[in-house]
Amino acid sequence: MKTLNEMKCTFPARSENESFARTMVCAFAAQLDPTVEELADLRTAVSEAVTNSIVHAYRGISGGSIAVTVRLLPDSVIYVRIADKGCGIADIEKAMEPLYSSAPAEERAGLGFTVMESFTDKLQVSSKVGIGTTVIMRKKMRHGREYDCH
Ligand SMILES: Nc1ncnc2c1ncn2[C@@H]1O[C@H](COP(=O)(O)OP(=O)(O)OP(=O)(O)O)[C@@H](O)[C@H]1O
Ligand SMILES: [Mg+2]
Repeated sequence: MKTLNEMKCTFPARSENESFARTMVCAFAAQLDPTVEELADLRTAVSEAVTNSIVHAYRGISGGSIAVTVRLLPDSVIYVRIADKGCGIADIEKAMEPLYSSAPAEERAGLGFTVMESFTDKLQVSSKVGIGTTVIMRKKMRHGREYDCH
């Protein structure tokens, strides 16, 4: 689908950068004049994906990075891609099951993917063990104004 606008950002996988990432995506989405609720949903979904890259992807490894691409697509759709080069996920289907967590001892609920799925319109997860994980989410800002290219 044609990209109308785009922002890219890469940052170290540190927990201090999680709020930056979600705020950056929402600042970009603000050009559509979305509702507070739509923005809150997008912020929460991005937060879950970025947190996963921080806490799971680079477990025990320092110096990892996270790349975020956010695009405006036609029909007021926001596209967000969150990619890490961490450990990857061996069984994506299982990882996406509600309440599944590989880290229950850390009081993780196993609901990150469930939140991403319910707070966006489309969630795609691809991953390779030892290579990394990419999460792509699309959300239509229904109350947004149509993008004006001029
Ligand atoms: N970027 C990633 N890299 C490696 N593994 C991941 C990544 N994202 C998710 N996972 C794996 O998928 C599992 C499920 O993720 P999910 O976000 O649903 O739950 P959680 O992170 O364990 O718990 P919660 O998000 O509720 O704190 C994780 O426990 C982890 O094993
Ligand atoms: Mg999670």
